[in-house]
Amino acid sequence: MAQILNGKELSAKFRTRLKEETAELKDKHGLVPGIAVILAGDDPASAVYVGSKEKAAVEAGFYSVVDRVPASVTTGDILSLVEKYNNDPAIHGILVQLPLPAGVDEKKILRAIKPEKDVDGFHPYNVGLLNIGEDCLMPCTPLGVMNMMADYGIDLKGKNAVVIGRSNIVGKPMAAMLVKADATVTVCHSKTKNIKDICAAADVIVAAVGRARFVTADFVRDGAVVIDVGMNRVDGKLCGDVDFESVSEKASFITPVPGGVGPMTITTLMQNTLKACKKAAGL
Ligand code: GUN
Repeated sequence: MAQILNGKELSAKFRTRLKEETAELKDKHGLVPGIAVILAGDDPASAVYVGSKEKAAVEAGFYSVVDRVPASVTTGDILSLVEKYNNDPAIHGILVQLPLPAGVDEKKILRAIKPEKDVDGFHPYNVGLLNIGEDCLMPCTPLGVMNMMADYGIDLKGKNAVVIGRSNIVGKPMAAMLVKADATVTVCHSKTKNIKDICAAADVIVAAVGRARFVTADFVRDGAVVIDVGMNRVDGKLCGDVDFESVSEKASFITPVPGGVGPMTITTLMQNTLKACKKAAGL
């Protein structure tokens, strides 16, 4: 039976540290990390995520602003908000929740965020830095996964890692981080042939496909580490991309859904905001 990578517990530990560091920053330097989140439209899942981000920011002792704008918003309206926060010295992190309503130019908006305030790590400048292995703001979900594996002492050097999914939010940055950690990385996607065989040779599998229980026990070799980034709704219940019940019999470590990767993502967003704040202050 696999050991559970408990994202909820680890997240709580990291958030306690964050809160302490934030309090110290305020005491010593009079600095308060500030985050602005822009939520356009009424996607219910996005509303839940943004609510959790707001709560986490306040709990950490951050200054937090959330702009909720209707789905009828234009690209220009969002660009104006981004520009306002780019120029606001009390804001160190800007996040535009995705997906954006139809007709809004996502690329233009992500490129408008100042790279030093891009706590999502989605600006092409930060994407480039990540891919040449330099320090930068990195996407929260894959960075949370890396932090979780590091905390559990999982060594990635020379390991075969398979990432299922090639999104800009998870799959591609995950692959770049694993390469940086000296893993040998394969990225699988919807056109990949023999996904099952490729996964069966993996020491580490990161599933980010968005298909409920896609990774079954026959994908997994004995002792592999299995990370489940999936968040699917099946009959109203949250369910990952991994068939937890069968895979946990073979894996050495596994993340549950919920309580695995999910809580780490928001914690990482707070860590990124603190990092951006310290950097802005030259600390
Ligand atoms: N939508 C789903 N995941 C994310 C994320 O990590 N950042 C943003 N901005 N939107 C998302």
